[in-house]
Amino acid sequence: MKKVFISIAFVLTIFRSYADEGMWLPHLLSQLNEGRMKSLGMKISATDIYSINKGSLKDAIVSFGGFCTGEIISTQGLLLTNHHCGFSAIQNHSSLEHNYIQDGFWAMDKSKELPNNGLFVTFIIRIDDVTTSVLAGTNATMTEKERQSMIDKNIASLQKTILKETTQNVIIKSFFEGNQYYAFVTETYRDVRLVGAPPSSIGNFGKDTDNWMWPRHTGDFSMFRIYANRDNKPAEYSADNVPYIPKKALNISLSGIDNGDFTMIFGFPGKTTQYLPSVAVEQIVSINDPAKILVRDKTLEVIDKFMRTDEKTKIQYAAKWASISNAWKKWQGEVLGLKRTNAVAKKVQFETTFQERVNTHEAFAAYKNILPDFKNVYAQYAPYSLAKDYFTEIFSKLELFTIIGQLNAVNNAYKNGGEEAYRKRIIQAKGSLTKFFKDYNSAVDKKVFEALLPIYLSQPEAFVSAELKNAFTNAHQNYTNLADYIFQENNLYNIDFIFQMFNQSGEDFVQTFNTFKTVHLYNDMVATYQREIQKPLTPLQEQIDNLQRTYTKAQLAVMKEKKFYPDANSTMRITYGQVNGYQPKNGVYYEFLTDLDGVIEKYKPGDYEFDLPEKLIKLHTEKDYGIYGKNGKMPVCFIASNHTTGGNSGSPALDAYGNLIGLNFDRVWEGTMSDINYDASICRNIMVDIRYVLFITDKFANAGHLVKEMNIVYPKNKKK
Ligand code: ARG
Ligand code: GLU
Repeated sequence: MKKVFISIAFVLTIFRSYADEGMWLPHLLSQLNEGRMKSLGMKISATDIYSINKGSLKDAIVSFGGFCTGEIISTQGLLLTNHHCGFSAIQNHSSLEHNYIQDGFWAMDKSKELPNNGLFVTFIIRIDDVTTSVLAGTNATMTEKERQSMIDKNIASLQKTILKETTQNVIIKSFFEGNQYYAFVTETYRDVRLVGAPPSSIGNFGKDTDNWMWPRHTGDFSMFRIYANRDNKPAEYSADNVPYIPKKALNISLSGIDNGDFTMIFGFPGKTTQYLPSVAVEQIVSINDPAKILVRDKTLEVIDKFMRTDEKTKIQYAAKWASISNAWKKWQGEVLGLKRTNAVAKKVQFETTFQERVNTHEAFAAYKNILPDFKNVYAQYAPYSLAKDYFTEIFSKLELFTIIGQLNAVNNAYKNGGEEAYRKRIIQAKGSLTKFFKDYNSAVDKKVFEALLPIYLSQPEAFVSAELKNAFTNAHQNYTNLADYIFQENNLYNIDFIFQMFNQSGEDFVQTFNTFKTVHLYNDMVATYQREIQKPLTPLQEQIDNLQRTYTKAQLAVMKEKKFYPDANSTMRITYGQVNGYQPKNGVYYEFLTDLDGVIEKYKPGDYEFDLPEKLIKLHTEKDYGIYGKNGKMPVCFIASNHTTGGNSGSPALDAYGNLIGLNFDRVWEGTMSDINYDASICRNIMVDIRYVLFITDKFANAGHLVKEMNIVYPKNKKK
């Protein structure tokens, strides 16, 4: 009796949990996940999601530009993604006369859709397991280098033999740290046109204050259309191209969502590291994340002051601010979440079990020393990886160094390839620098310099450039003096002077270039980094990679009760969970859904982040929500327990039937540590409700012709 009671309790705890962590490969679902997905409420089969014999959901999902996800929502190649994914396209077409960032953009017919040079979308045609062929000829006694060159050779020959059409490509990727390999046959379309985007006051409502946060009220979406040649095949942009006819377009459900509803997210997550040893996570929490956060704290503090007082700087630094602050805010959430969920202690516990099994099973004898070896290598690695983070973070924030970097490239082109190579490289440098100077303010740069120098100079003696240290001594150990000294060479950030330098012969250019003292400082900083940090770091990194591969293989073999999924690597994945609120801290509970009333509550007229278009306020006042609202409310965003990461932006949120119900765009702050250690209690992904997307398109932007293209279904047998 007692035994029965225990096993029922055990089953209950399993099924009460709302989430399964994991980013799964779509072609392995039938083998690994289908049963569990159905038990969570899924009503379709694994072959409806992935099939190579018929159109399946995977045929409606694309990698958008290689950095986001998009999905096909009409039989005429209409594509949905995030506003922040389409942002550079929106920005490129914007000018003072046509400010699409501020006012939004809607093509009222196909002839008004805007081409985007360089933008592409990639479909996945097929996924094959090629592990055996890729690892053929490798063995345990090989060095890392020998092993890698064998693998590279195998991949190169596989790429030639895998069957594909001429318009297709083969990409072979490593999974489980080089323990498995899959080949992806892909097809890339390069004529992708902008169809519509709401104004930023909707598409990026709440900006940085709300970024990575719940409750959220952002309509983070934009629409594009894929064009193909007359044979429906990929082609470069041409006025003769026609809308692409997809193998599959997603159906759209306006039925809305309830607590506990099954959801899945289909897309291209970028990078996670779930199988690290505890020492590695400990270092991220206590050393690396704090260092990167510190550099960005100081940088953002300076930029913020300037942006607040000067309108021009506000525009110039808006995009830089967004990208610096996005990761900065995420890392802070990550540290907090890892600490709060005792991630390191949990890993230690896992490792204790692992070590016990390895010690007592002869078959696992080869794995006995992995954990002690990790401890040993990571201890040596720590000071160098910290120095590397400081160097990369600081160097990338100093814009003067970006200029020197460009000039250096021109300098090297002359040294290695003579006058002709020099002339060629100048063209590229002119392009980059013209763009760069449009958004450059040397007063900001100088203050950032002054704020970051103390961090650089306070590192251990060996890691600091001797020349910079000399300059500091000469500046009487005063950071302002040092910054003055560096920025007094104002020709170095004078675009006219630089372009005059480019008019010189290669030989004269090199001579002028070398008269700048800051160039020598720069070179010494780079040389010091390469000699003192990069050189000792490389072999340690190789040891870590090697150990990590063995450890991953060992975890799969030893910890059989755990379900393993490969870390994200920008390949197509599916993740599933349920709509669910969460408890961000003691005494507080967050609901799973927000609505337009909440948008209006946050409204601050004239504010940079929380201003709203008048029309939206009017629609709210009149409760004019059309078929999209429910019980007098207009749903806006919702959360669920799907395991997502960067790259999943723009991914479709699908219901139990595979219908589109939302658009993924973010995660909650308390749960950003899911990249390292997913925890079902506080990890939630954030989506715009599809009803809000269509409401904005139809009622706000009067682009109802786009909604007419879509297939809207109202599942009648929806549960509850
Ligand atoms: N945090 C989201 C992501 O990582 C959204 C970023 C865009 N939004 C913003 N306010 N910066 O990409
Ligand atoms: N905003 C992220 C992106 O650009 C998605 C949020 C996340 O990291 O989960 O992909």
